[in-house]
Amino acid sequence: MAKHQQVSGGAAEETSAAPSRRSFLGTGAALAGGAGAGLVGFGLGTSRATGSAAATTASGAIASAGAASGGEGAAATEWAGAVVPFIGPHQAGIATPPQAHATFLALNLVPGVGKEGLRRLMRQWTSDASRLQRGIPTLGDPQPDLASPPSRLTVTVGLGRGALAEAGLLDRAPAWLAPLPVFSVDKLEQRWNDGDVLAQVCSEDPIILAHAVRALLLSASGIATLHWQQRGFRRPVTSTSAMRNLMGQVDGTVQPADGELDQAVWIGADGPEWLRGGSSVVVRRIRMDLDTWDALDPQAKEQVIGRRMTSGAPLTGTKETDVPDLTATVDGLPVIPDFAHIRHAAVTSVAQKILRRPYNYDDTPAAGSSAEAGLLFVAYQRDPLAQFVPMQERLAAKDLLNFWTTPIGSAVFAILPGPAEGQTLGQALLG
Ligand code: HEM
Repeated sequence: MAKHQQVSGGAAEETSAAPSRRSFLGTGAALAGGAGAGLVGFGLGTSRATGSAAATTASGAIASAGAASGGEGAAATEWAGAVVPFIGPHQAGIATPPQAHATFLALNLVPGVGKEGLRRLMRQWTSDASRLQRGIPTLGDPQPDLASPPSRLTVTVGLGRGALAEAGLLDRAPAWLAPLPVFSVDKLEQRWNDGDVLAQVCSEDPIILAHAVRALLLSASGIATLHWQQRGFRRPVTSTSAMRNLMGQVDGTVQPADGELDQAVWIGADGPEWLRGGSSVVVRRIRMDLDTWDALDPQAKEQVIGRRMTSGAPLTGTKETDVPDLTATVDGLPVIPDFAHIRHAAVTSVAQKILRRPYNYDDTPAAGSSAEAGLLFVAYQRDPLAQFVPMQERLAAKDLLNFWTTPIGSAVFAILPGPAEGQTLGQALLG
């Protein structure tokens, strides 16, 4: 993910926001230079036998010698022991710089388990996540050797509308906790839609991730069954190369800055009491038609997005971090075309911004086809109806990118606040 920009200002204002590729590199460089020696203690230097944790910053950023030395894809092993704190006002895995691997699990509660069943699941997952994020096996873990080093593992838990219905708590559901309106571009398949409970599980290490996923599913047995599972990957944040999606575009440039998250992402005093410090997430599975996209020449691809393919710079600028000038014209024609993705995705007020945390997927193609690939578009915001929906409506109506992309799955979850020490996820709702 690249540098954050405040799109509302006239000039690019860059911040050293936590979920930022370059600020992450900067942190590594500063720490390697001795400025934050107290925070360093990661990776291969960490005891493999004990899985003892490396120190990290609150957001989960870690110091990486590989990153500081600027190596491409800087040695993933160097963050092996790094721990993202589980306790805090917000759950981990949202403002945390995105890990390279993710699995999203949507489960449906077994009918009849009720509020008590949901409470039991949240207790189990609180125990599992708090242990696994520290590299400690779960209670009764059948594969304890796979629990460490945690490699920035995060488990982020959300509830869908169905969970509140099963628990008899629908009167406490915010209006946005429901399936999104169907957009004109949607070709949704039920196998990727909805779900009662979400676990977003991320790590730099796919083995640690697979173990955590299995542990969470084992803990759910008898209470909930798997509805869908989606796996994704992206460039490590320590990479000196930008995150790219599978269409080849630099993806994740414009994001809310750290100081804007309270207004854009975290639910505050005007939201339901049980969600304060929480958020909402929209998970959309968007298939890409790579065969027809690949046939376009680079200039056409740049017009579709409104940015350069090589650098990610807007067509009106030279650097990725330049603020696009949507008013610029040449010979009376807009430099960033009327149909360009960024023209219709852009917003002007902080309260409309969304935090994108997307992952690529590249699954087994059907016989006779060359790709089954796309983007797990994951957006965090305070209120999907006020932030995601108007944006998606504009894009559905005017974005030329729709020609090569098709949303085939859609789900909305309420993201619980982070637990305080000794508390259970969802305690303010479930008691
Ligand atoms: C497969 C589908 C999609 C692809 C390939 C894609 C790709 C991109 C790319 C390459 C950029 C420019 C760089 C950046 O700022 O990250 C961008 C920007 C953006 N996209 Fe998408 N996008 C997709 C779907 C969506 C959807 C569904 C939404 C929201 C409904 C969205 C919202 C945004 C926003 C808010 C920006 C920043 C716009 C700005 O202020 O400049 N994108 N996208």
